[in-house]
Amino acid sequence: MKRAKITVVGAGNVGATTAQWCAAAELGDVVLLDIPDVEGMPQGKALDLMQASPIVGFDADVRGTSRYDDTAESDVVVITAGIPRKPGMSRDDLLSTNARIVGSVAAQVARTSPESILVVVSNPLDAMTQRALQVSGFPPRRVVGQAGVLDTARFRAFLAMELGVSVEDVSAMLLGGHGDTMVPLPSCTSVGGIPVAQLLDAQRLEQIIQRTRDGGAEIVGLLKTGSAYYAPSAASAQMVEAIVRDKKRLIPCAAYCDAEYGVGGYYVGVPVVLGAGGVERIVELQLSDEERAAFQQSVDAVRTLVETMARLTD
Ligand code: NAI
Ligand code: 2OP
Repeated sequence: MKRAKITVVGAGNVGATTAQWCAAAELGDVVLLDIPDVEGMPQGKALDLMQASPIVGFDADVRGTSRYDDTAESDVVVITAGIPRKPGMSRDDLLSTNARIVGSVAAQVARTSPESILVVVSNPLDAMTQRALQVSGFPPRRVVGQAGVLDTARFRAFLAMELGVSVEDVSAMLLGGHGDTMVPLPSCTSVGGIPVAQLLDAQRLEQIIQRTRDGGAEIVGLLKTGSAYYAPSAASAQMVEAIVRDKKRLIPCAAYCDAEYGVGGYYVGVPVVLGAGGVERIVELQLSDEERAAFQQSVDAVRTLVETMARLTD
């Protein structure tokens, strides 16, 4: 059987670790691309990963490059190129620099891998995914953003830590943009099938939800020189797996919503079915008035960011 070809653009913390998870899980052959200014860096990391393969026991070709021609005919392209947050910066502070970077990456990928599915990771996530859609000209189902898998993983990890149970038994869903306005949904969160509200009092649950919203900033504050990358890259690799293995995972992703949820043409986190076709379906949940209001606030924040981006990139 032919192996999938997975390109990861940006060989920094998130990109290199995404390549590692993808190769170790034998999701396909991996091309790790970065800019010519850091020539040798993606090649060195790829070679290092290849040398881990006999120890870990995976068969995957991992190659580093700065040339898009080496990425040609990729099945999936994960875009992690850009600058990360430093302490005191919000994801939105990255807007103009990363819009330029993601635009140039999307243009190159559209030329060299016109049938690929793009998984965007660069921040501010929802706006960058919109940028990749605009520049690539791909149909919306082939451009998807990674945020919800990470944000729900943080929520699940905090709940498992609090309750002293396996993370495997914690299931969660959230909506909205990847930012301070994300909307974790206790009504769709359960532990071993038991609704979380039966296991935790409302005040403690709200504290855990707030820690989830602040999850990225908590790590930036600790690292001081960059942002999280183990969980973000594991989340990205899980999305790659859903696509290359056509798993049809029902997971939260940033998807282009028009009529869906009445969003009106923006990327925002919603439950989707992710498979070989990309975003194969957007699942519409029945929301309470409170959840709908919080979701709308999140959509408004994404819209403002996209309008600012349009002014900056015109
Ligand atoms: P990093 O600084 O370690 O790596 C970024 C890499 O992108 C660098 O190696 C840089 O040379 C490269 N790059 C810059 N311009 C490029 C271009 N035009 N083409 C190809 N490569 C280019 O940063 P890190 O920690 O890997 O984060 C990457 C991005 O992912 C940031 O924007 C960060 O905010 C975002 N992020 C998003 C998350 C999410 O859940 N959506 C979670 C964590 C990070
Ligand atoms: C995170 O949530 C910075 O978006 C990144 O860790």
